[in-house]
Amino acid sequence: MIDLSNCKPFAKGGNRNCFRHPDFPDRCVKVMLPGRLAELRARAPWYKSLVRDSHFDDNARELAGYQQKALRHAGPDSAVWQHLPRYYGIHETSLGPGSVSELFTDQQGTPAPTLENYLQDHGLDGRIEKALQQFSDWLRATGVLTKNLLPHNFVVIPKSGNLSLYLIDGLGSAAALPLSEHFEVSRQRYISRRIERMWKRIHWELSDRSIPWKIAEKL
Ligand SMILES: Nc1ncnc2c1ncn2[C@@H]1O[C@H](COP(=O)(O)OP(=O)(O)O)[C@@H](O)[C@H]1O
Ligand SMILES: [Mg+2]
Repeated sequence: MIDLSNCKPFAKGGNRNCFRHPDFPDRCVKVMLPGRLAELRARAPWYKSLVRDSHFDDNARELAGYQQKALRHAGPDSAVWQHLPRYYGIHETSLGPGSVSELFTDQQGTPAPTLENYLQDHGLDGRIEKALQQFSDWLRATGVLTKNLLPHNFVVIPKSGNLSLYLIDGLGSAAALPLSEHFEVSRQRYISRRIERMWKRIHWELSDRSIPWKIAEKL
């Protein structure tokens, strides 16, 4: 059991609090925000009322994401870890089930900035454009399936003079996943759509956002 009672989260997403692992400083532990599961369930349309809790639980969906075909049998030296945190499974914590994965830090040991932070500070400069291109090539080559790729779900790490991106959230089931799992053409089409939408989101975040994202993503 991981005791988080004396720990303060270093970051918070829409659904989970992120803590540094008290026993392994190079790992993070993510637990669902208090009451968030019930909130998501209450907000879901009526036809989802019979669905299991795991459908709304980011940790359960992440576990399923790591069990996808492209990752299931990946060894420790596999290319799949070039842009993904290593994953250590779901463990019981004092705050409920916690998803444990590799923590990315800067040279000072503080958690790495997100791509959203980077874009706010530097805009879409050549270095990050190159890192995004590299990430996209890796996604196509490995066939890893993701949900929509959002800037706050990447962290940026300097690596041998360049920048490297890691997707720290967003593996897991999207509607088209089962089909894309089994058919290569469908997989590549699915991935191309995710990349296209990633660029759309980046340009939207850099714009004046006068058009709401829900509309912009459909244009
Ligand atoms: N492996 C990691 N290394 C460094 N920072 C992380 C890591 N995972 C998450 N974070 C930070 O925590 C925030 C929330 O984590 P995330 O997994 O996206 O939670 P949620 O499921 O709530 O969206 C991220 O935006 C990022 O700032
Ligand atoms: Mg997130």
